[in-house]
Amino acid sequence: MADAFDLVVIGSGPGGYECAIKAAQLGLNVACVEKNPTLGGTCLNIGCIPSKALLHASELFAEVTHAFPGMGIEVGAPKLNLKQMLSFKQEAIDGNTKGIEFLYKKNKIEWVKGLGVIAAPGKVKVGDRVLETKNIVIATGSDVARLPGIEIDEKTVVSSTGALAFEKVPERLLVIGGGVIGLELGSVWGRLGAKVTVVEFLDAILPGMDGEVVKNFTRILKKQGFEFKLGSKVTKVEKTKAGLKVSVEPAAGGDAQVLEADAVLVAVGRVAYTQGLGLEAAGVKTDKRGRVEVDAGLKTNVDGIYAIGDVIAGPMLAHKAMEEGVALAERLAGHYGAVNYDVIPGVVYTGPEVASVGKTEEQLKAEGIDYNAGKFPFTANGRAKANKTTEGFVKILADKKTDRVLGVHIIGANAGEMIQEAVVAMEFAGSSEDIARMCFAHPTMSEAVKEAALAVTGLPIHM
Ligand code: NAI
Repeated sequence: MADAFDLVVIGSGPGGYECAIKAAQLGLNVACVEKNPTLGGTCLNIGCIPSKALLHASELFAEVTHAFPGMGIEVGAPKLNLKQMLSFKQEAIDGNTKGIEFLYKKNKIEWVKGLGVIAAPGKVKVGDRVLETKNIVIATGSDVARLPGIEIDEKTVVSSTGALAFEKVPERLLVIGGGVIGLELGSVWGRLGAKVTVVEFLDAILPGMDGEVVKNFTRILKKQGFEFKLGSKVTKVEKTKAGLKVSVEPAAGGDAQVLEADAVLVAVGRVAYTQGLGLEAAGVKTDKRGRVEVDAGLKTNVDGIYAIGDVIAGPMLAHKAMEEGVALAERLAGHYGAVNYDVIPGVVYTGPEVASVGKTEEQLKAEGIDYNAGKFPFTANGRAKANKTTEGFVKILADKKTDRVLGVHIIGANAGEMIQEAVVAMEFAGSSEDIARMCFAHPTMSEAVKEAALAVTGLPIHM
């Protein structure tokens, strides 16, 4: 017998689970199909959450050596218990995935376990069961992008998944790809003792980020021991008795250099995941990168079938997927819902963190928009001086004519929390003067945001 639902969401990552919960809160009868043994998708199981647990633990481990003595805390050299650190990570995963299971029960969302296949519009097959539904939301996320000829075994040649579970710290870790994953997980293992070399195809790390931020951040990472081979590509990884031999060539071609490593992390991006979903049979169109095509209302070319998150175009960020999931659920329940794609923050959770929202200087120049830039370094911020977290700066870019804030870029401790102030200001179409005239608690790192706003059209106080 077929079951009838208002909405079947395929995939329980941040996009899928928020869509399911919001739709259920608004009165729809919802099922969510998930093939993995736990809910939460990549983010909760093998992405954002476990990586942040390891980033937090490894940062504290490094601080024992680098920051404690200067503060008068003498505890001797730290000793790593990696097994315990990995179970600390597992606890973070379990706490979060069980939390979603609880929310599903609370909101009466049925978790249908298994692989969901779209049999036709309004029909999702899961094993022998057919779910009849008014609407289908594809929230199947993304998978690791692979490099031809480089086989990922998740032991010594790993994706982000394997790099969250090394049984011992690799002495030499070679990272392919200077993007977010490469720098975050490179930081984890670097802090725990690995010598980290990043091979990046382009001439700079973190493509798409503000150029000045990238330049400064590269310098900071080098100081931490990162080695960068920019404008380079890996052409071969060979396993030998002694470890791995990695052939690295200039991106434009030329003589290869052979580097030795104990582990290689492949972090060259992610691709939309639609395997076994039955898109072709259902007539759902994809673009040339395999992403599901949707219109401004997140609807595919087939009535009643929608898609959100990493499986469609746009930044592959959990919070972008969440916003899409909620907005779509609201619309399916007959309410208003929308995503403001101009104000989606991005954070790299390294130490210091890098965070940005809105346009970069490069984008503003390319779009011919005249702007004022205001910058304030943490070296001049009282709290940063007290905490010895003076690396980095806040930069605010505002329209020259209207003073409306168009972009904010921060390198600094807890930049990922601070950027939210800029998000709020930009969401309300605020100007740099609006920020400059607000009262900020003293002493906080956030005061650098106010000072950068003061610097947009005038002078900051503390410079
Ligand atoms: P990415 O797109 O951020 O970076 C991939 C990097 O690899 C780029 O710099 C690219 O130029 C380089 N690359 C590509 N092919 C290469 C090759 N053959 N040789 C050398 N370099 C090559 O992708 P990443 O880091 O794998 O992350 C995947 C996705 O997950 C991204 O969309 C990212 O935004 C997201 N993510 C976000 C996080 C966050 O918000 N904190 C954390 C982790 C992932």
